[in-house]
Amino acid sequence: MIADKTAANQDLPSGSEWATLSDVETVITDSPRVAAAVIKRGGLAAFPTETVYGLGADIFNEAAIAKIFEAKGRPSDNPLIAHVAEADQIRLLTDELSPAAELLFQAFAPGPLTVVVRKTGAVPMLATAGLETIGIRMPRLAVARQFLAACGVPVVAPSANLSGWPSPTTWEAVLEDLDGRIDCILKGTASEIGLESTVVDCTGELPVVLRSGAVSIEQLREIFPSIMLSSGAEADTPRSPGVKHRHYSPRADVVIGTNGAIAANSAFIGLHRPKATFRAIRICRDLDDYAKSVYEFFRESDRLGIEIIYCERVAESGIGTALMDRVRRAAKG
Ligand code: TXA
Ligand code: MG
Repeated sequence: MIADKTAANQDLPSGSEWATLSDVETVITDSPRVAAAVIKRGGLAAFPTETVYGLGADIFNEAAIAKIFEAKGRPSDNPLIAHVAEADQIRLLTDELSPAAELLFQAFAPGPLTVVVRKTGAVPMLATAGLETIGIRMPRLAVARQFLAACGVPVVAPSANLSGWPSPTTWEAVLEDLDGRIDCILKGTASEIGLESTVVDCTGELPVVLRSGAVSIEQLREIFPSIMLSSGAEADTPRSPGVKHRHYSPRADVVIGTNGAIAANSAFIGLHRPKATFRAIRICRDLDDYAKSVYEFFRESDRLGIEIIYCERVAESGIGTALMDRVRRAAKG
């Protein structure tokens, strides 16, 4: 399965470069301490958060950070988010939390929010892909907090998938992508939110949303009434380098809406039961359930060999903004 994915993914190294990656035994544990011990000795451990599963390494260990890019096949110009257990760890990462960043942390941390600020010299350039800024997030999931606290250092972690594919919302999805490529998976329940964190750049005069997420634009506007969503992917030099790469895409084609003829070998996910028949169908209870289910449904459809996944269009407010953003990117991929 991994070989298939490699061939289809333009971001991954090809041929002999890929083959040089060594096989490691991936230990699966439900102990935050065991997973933290892996981080402390310079290894890679995937861990659950309320958004998606992350692939962690010690932020001050450059060799470990390099292994993240290698294990995921991640382009080296895509910066990583630093995860902290407690507010006092933020001081290791930045000298000056701007007033905007301070307000955001007060309102939404711990939670599904990443704030981009200027970094200290102690943070390796490898972690930030050469940027002078660093994204910081304090997850709220109890197991994630226990793991991060036991690590004792901030942990850089992208989503724990092969680069370009849907983020994992279960430990089994992490295993599917990264078995034999990482040292450890900390087992947890399915991610409660199911979409990646909201990323807000606080380095400019006004904060800008680089990636939508469960902390909604409407919630952010209660604090910064004029905050805008960056055009990101369309810009020549995107402020969030990650958004220009292929992202979140299953092997199947993704189509938004069910207008027109429905292909035979297809699947549907949405809120309302459509008239047509599909090989796989997921009717979600509400918008939150749709957001939580969409990546796993993409993966499930790929396991079944589905060719087209139809996704119901929803209103772009609340979590609907992030959901439609990811579905649109998947449709482009
Ligand atoms: O919910 C999440 O954010 C998950 C969990 C594991 O915390 N992490 C995650 O990481 O989604 P990743 O690497 O898959 O996505 C990070 C995004 C990318 O779009 C990246 O470009 C952006 O955040 N980013 C990170 N650091 C940045 C920086 N210094 N400046 C601008 N964008 C940054
Ligand atoms: Mg990712």
